[in-house]
Amino acid sequence: MAKAKTVFSCSSCGHEEPKWLGRCPGCGEWNSFKEKKLPSPGAASPAGFPRTTDEPRSLSSISIENRVRRSTGIPEADQVLGGGLVEGSAVLLGGEPGIGKSTLMLQIAFQAAADREVLYISGEESPGQIKLRAERLGINSDNLILFCESSVEEILTTLDKRKPGLVIMDSIQTIHSPTQGLVPGTVNQLKYGCFELINWIRSRDAVLFLIAHVTKEGAIAGPKVIEHMVDTVLYFDHSGNELRVLRSTKNRFGSVDEIGLFNMGPTGLEQVSHPEGMFLENREGELPAGISVAPVFEGSRVLLVEIQSLTVPAKGAVSRIFSDRVENGRISRVAAIMEKHLGVKFSDQDIYINVAGGMKITEIGMELPLALAIYSARTGVQIPSDLIALGEMSLTGEIRPVPQLRKRLKAAEEMGFKRVLLPGESPEAKEWKGSPPLIARDIKEAVRKVFSAS
Ligand code: TYD
Ligand code: MG
Repeated sequence: MAKAKTVFSCSSCGHEEPKWLGRCPGCGEWNSFKEKKLPSPGAASPAGFPRTTDEPRSLSSISIENRVRRSTGIPEADQVLGGGLVEGSAVLLGGEPGIGKSTLMLQIAFQAAADREVLYISGEESPGQIKLRAERLGINSDNLILFCESSVEEILTTLDKRKPGLVIMDSIQTIHSPTQGLVPGTVNQLKYGCFELINWIRSRDAVLFLIAHVTKEGAIAGPKVIEHMVDTVLYFDHSGNELRVLRSTKNRFGSVDEIGLFNMGPTGLEQVSHPEGMFLENREGELPAGISVAPVFEGSRVLLVEIQSLTVPAKGAVSRIFSDRVENGRISRVAAIMEKHLGVKFSDQDIYINVAGGMKITEIGMELPLALAIYSARTGVQIPSDLIALGEMSLTGEIRPVPQLRKRLKAAEEMGFKRVLLPGESPEAKEWKGSPPLIARDIKEAVRKVFSAS
């Protein structure tokens, strides 16, 4: 008979080695290696791994199941989820302590409790603490069942008994099973607990939310494999101002481009449905030099963002770029284009770029507004406060049009902008209600028109 294979696995991080080691090369923990028997081929799946019961089938014999999607009752959350919650799916929600994960969950739980039983499992808070939060939110329901438990076995027994339609585990870091060692929060505990809960909901068309803490760097604490196991990964984060942003980094049932915006109020999370101008600073009169406004897309919505630029003579032999909201490579490219085509020197300057409200901007349409902000900072001449510019810059100094112009112009119009600078005529520009659009095909023309307009 073939000898059963063994490996040594770190009880802290899950790292595996063929031989026992005193110190784990994965996480640096001492004396953490435990012997583990590997199952022989053909044996049942080991605990903690999904049990598949399927047979190999031909592609043509497979019919598509129409999965039911239900609204969360919170449009901002639906938008991020791709239209609502899909039955039989698992969602992982990560975020810093205090960001509002438990509040969002309780609000979603309350909406769902209108037509199905919701089991809110908390390994962190007592029923009294959750009740206090619920009172603050004005939430009460016989269908909302609180269960303060962290043992996988107890949770599974309760799930089998109650068969809820929505299950919330707050948080996965507390979940544990004696089969996976004595210490909660280890990689094996997390993997095992999440697998078991996901397996349970998959076969019952329920929906599972797994709440997770994040590390100092902002990643979900725990093994990456949990992000692979779930269908959707959501992050709840600060936008830099008072707003809280819900985004998805993975969604098997929708796009990952949409964001949901919330304000934390005295009675819970309030949705921000018209965020167009929320990232603009409130200013009276003229803008200081170095500032431009760009209408950029976040998912399907346009946000008007303020790009702030500062240039100072370089402190070292080489000029440097300081920016954590706009990619450095893009800033140096835009500065190089201007140096070449406008004859203004940037290579002896340190360039600082910031985006008011803390939004990270990656979209191409912000290149022309970025160039104008840098130029304005360098020359000390302001950009008119009622002007927006849109365009992508090519290395030759030409400006190219950006997609979805109509929506961008409409948002700018609603925010009171009167003048627009575009790279060419277009049917969309004809609908602009402000003064006739300024047309500039290259950066030289753009600078001339913008700065003579001020
Ligand atoms: P919480 O949902 O507990 O955050 P998390 O689960 O992510 O740790 O909420 C965190 C903060 O929100 C807390 O500091 C209190 C505040 N809060 C409000 O301002 N208003 C409210 O209605 C509620 C419920 C909480
Ligand atoms: Mg919480």
